[in-house]
Parts: sequence; structure tokens; C-alpha cells
Amino acid sequence: MSQTSLSQDEAKRRAAARAVEFVRPGMKLGLGTGSTAAMFVDLLGRQVRDGLDIVGVPTSERTRAQAAELGIPLSSLDETPELDLTVDGADEFDSRLRLIKGGGGALLREKIVAAASARMIVIADSSKEVAILGRFPLPVEVDRFGLESTRRHVERAVADGGMTGAVTLRKAPGGHAFVTDGGHCILDCALGAIVDPEGLAARLVAIPGVVEHGLFLGLATTVIIAAASGLRIISAPT
Ligand code: A5P
Repeated sequence: MSQTSLSQDEAKRRAAARAVEFVRPGMKLGLGTGSTAAMFVDLLGRQVRDGLDIVGVPTSERTRAQAAELGIPLSSLDETPELDLTVDGADEFDSRLRLIKGGGGALLREKIVAAASARMIVIADSSKEVAILGRFPLPVEVDRFGLESTRRHVERAVADGGMTGAVTLRKAPGGHAFVTDGGHCILDCALGAIVDPEGLAARLVAIPGVVEHGLFLGLATTVIIAAASGLRIISAPT
């Protein structure tokens, strides 16, 4: 395959394959959600079939089903509260390893699992790299109670941060509200550019109906980026 013809799927697969090299026998692993993470889980399943001894904690029911199908031994954070490594995708990342996640709606469990892990490796194709976060609409997981009030609070938080953009309820393909594994809804915030992610994160967590937001700050330790020109790895200073 020539450099210019690397498909997005092939790029994701290469990043996933590189992440598998970080896995060691005996590790307790967080298993991410999304198409890139699914490739990692698939490759991990092959290694388990060949005798690799690991245990996985899935970040979504989708990933749980996939991992179970592949015969990956599974656990929960109640049984296994501290993990060695989580491997997950991202919707966006910047040079400071700050992420937007939640495009697949799994951000709450993804963040809980990442926070329980000593390291978080993000796997992504190069289209996810941005200078300033916010091109991808920021998902905010909210309780269903008081949804419209919470949506207006989120609008105000966005405006207080000097940003404009629609805050809309995510819909499922059938037209009804998308519901997360935790039974919540998602508000997608089309902001364009989030100049101060830490400031916006602080404003969002202060809203009572907000369960969690898709800004992952200080969680990723490594990003593996696959492009036509090859793999690039950026790591947080230790
Ligand atoms: C799931 O909720 C998300 O955080 C995913 O990790 C993110 O959307 C990346 O998904 P893809 O690998 O499918 O792009």
C-alpha cells in the first residue's frame, strides 16, 4: 500500500496494533469504546487465545459484549479497582494530550476507567489531532431529570467561557433521545474552539445536572497516532 492510500481504518488498526505491544502478561487493562478501541480489543483477543494472561475492564456494554465474545477474561472496577493500563480512542486530542471523548456516548465509564488506571494510551488516526480542541462537538452527559434546565445552564457555562455554539440533545437513529449505558442523556456542544478547556471543565462540573463531560484533562499519558507517513507517539512528561 502506498503512503497516500492508507485508509482511516488501516491507520486505526496500526495504532491499535502498536498499543498491543505495551500489554504485558498479568496486566489489568481498561478496554475502551469506539471503532479504534474495538480494533485493539480484537487484537488483544487474538493474544488471549494464544495464551496471554490479562484481565479487562470494559468501558461500555458494547465493549463488554465484544470482549466476552473473544474470550477475554473480564472484571469490574469493584473487583479490580486499580488498573495498570487503559487503551482507548478519542474524538480529538491536542499536543498537551488533552482529549475530547464521548462521540460514542461512553464518556462516563471511559473516564472512570481511565482515572482508575496508572496509564492511559490513546490510539487514533491523525485526523483526530487538533491545535485547539473543540472542532468536534463536546459531549456532556446529563441526568434526564431537569434536562431543559440543565441544557440552559450548559449554554450559560459556554457563554461565560466566552464561547458560542449550539447545545443540542443527542438523538438516537430512531429520533428519540440517545441514552447512555448509565441511563443518562448527552448534550453535544458545537463550540468550534475551546481555548480554555480547564476553565470550561470547571464550569460544567459545577452544574448539578451534569454527570460528566467529555474533556479528558491530565488522564492520557501516551497518544499513538497513525498517519500515512507512519506511527508517531507522544507522551506526557513523567
Ligand atoms: C466513545 O464514547 C468515544 O469516546 C470514542 O473513544 C471516540 O468516539 C473515538 O471513537 P472512534 O475510535 O470510533 O473514532
